Amino acid sequence: MTPKSKSAAQQRPQPQVIRAVGPLRAWVSRVRDKGETVALVPTMGALHAGHLALVRLARRRADRVIVSIFVNPAQFGPNEDFGSYPRTWDADVLALSQLKVDAIWAPGVATMYPDGFATRIAPGGPALARLEDRFRPHFFGGVCTVVAKLLLQVAPDYATFGEKDYQQLKVVTAMARDLDIPTKIVGLPTIREKDGLAMSSRNAYLSTGERAAAPALYRALTDCAKHLKAGSPLAATLGEAEAQIENAGYAVDYFEARHAETLAPIQSVKDGPVRLLVAAKLGRTRLIDNLQV
Ligand code: PAF
Repeated sequence: MTPKSKSAAQQRPQPQVIRAVGPLRAWVSRVRDKGETVALVPTMGALHAGHLALVRLARRRADRVIVSIFVNPAQFGPNEDFGSYPRTWDADVLALSQLKVDAIWAPGVATMYPDGFATRIAPGGPALARLEDRFRPHFFGGVCTVVAKLLLQVAPDYATFGEKDYQQLKVVTAMARDLDIPTKIVGLPTIREKDGLAMSSRNAYLSTGERAAAPALYRALTDCAKHLKAGSPLAATLGEAEAQIENAGYAVDYFEARHAETLAPIQSVKDGPVRLLVAAKLGRTRLIDNLQV
């Protein structure tokens, strides 16, 4: 095949796929030797437009972008979806090539957690806010352990995280601060489908009927924020939002108003800035979302 007959995708430089810590450190050293900055986008793959927005944000911040793809067993509970979590490697690599990502860090489980691995981060503060942690007690320990490893392995100047996982963003920010990890954690507002549903890899689990009902979550958040801003009482307004979601077919885990920075409970919107946070199950799929009031 002559170079001219190659498709644009074939001509595009592929991101370097790295699967072991030694070659990863060599890649980082080469970049650092040139005086270039690095941004890391941690993901579990199954990339959607939300992840790609994080990649574009990383590209704006740094000279080189590395995306990690690792479905982290440590953040899944025994009855959760680790085994069935969507894995879409070929599509992920194609999407990252199109965005001219420089490298993909794709370690296997045995690379991240080799035999004898025995250290786990136990985050406090926002990780114990009784939101996600109440329903997924193992989750933030697993997230912090893997994110700490990723930040130590890559030593990036920046790491980008979506606000869709709002409590996670606060937990990771606190961890980087508390452990003096010299990476700036950068948050990005949630990317939504046209009907308001927050982009999530787990949306792929929704049946057609569930997908049609799913935007009720965001509608309840926007209605609730509007009523609170107009002065409606906090407890009653949250109760109405919960009923609104249940009427759409969701089973609600929580629908709460918290201080946007500390995630502490609030008595009134005057105790703000206020963030509404929700988690609810539609059939077997658990979705989370949040919104600033
Ligand atoms: O948000 C995610 O996809 C994961 O929790 C993360 C940050 C990649 C850690 O596994």
